[in-house]
Amino acid sequence: MGEMDGLCVTDCTRCPALVDSRSQIVNGTGPDDADLVFVGEGPGAQEDSQGEPFVGRSGSVLDDELLAAGLEREAVRITNCVRCRPPENRDPTADELENCRGYLLQEIDLVDPEVIVTLGKVPTEHLLGRSVAVTNEAGSIEEVRLGERSRRVLICVHPAATLYDRSQRDTFESAIRTAADLAGVDDSGSGQTRLDGF
Ligand code: URA
Repeated sequence: MGEMDGLCVTDCTRCPALVDSRSQIVNGTGPDDADLVFVGEGPGAQEDSQGEPFVGRSGSVLDDELLAAGLEREAVRITNCVRCRPPENRDPTADELENCRGYLLQEIDLVDPEVIVTLGKVPTEHLLGRSVAVTNEAGSIEEVRLGERSRRVLICVHPAATLYDRSQRDTFESAIRTAADLAGVDDSGSGQTRLDGF
């Protein structure tokens, strides 16, 4: 049925449609003790072929904005609500989200980040457990119980939203800057990070 080896899911067959559409399981990437965990919806075509989250166009938008906020992609953890590419890039179904939820929660538990950043409507609603208009709520932070612990979730629009609607660019940028602040990134140029107080 699928199991987790640390942070990596292996051999999962819980979602028949996704087993058919995927070419591989796309696990999260980045340090296992990252201060920030970014959660997307699910792998697209590029991610499915390369086996890594956010490596297509959305990934470039995310990487650029992280850098602008003083964060290297390699310093953060990036993962998805579902780890297998849905057919025709449709949204994951409620069942598929549920099937993959335990893996995501285990990843969050192990990494134990300061902040979880949800990229777009699907991950935001999945983790907050309510309907959310992400454009209106982007940048706000909510405490939510996930597994055994209360976690701080920062709502963000999906990077792809900025490709279709320029006005979302500022919303995205300011949410990523908030994430960097919460992770204690000091953009004064010293390269020092400030982790206390959060
Ligand atoms: N969009 C997502 O939500 N996740 C990815 O990994 C890539 C694009």
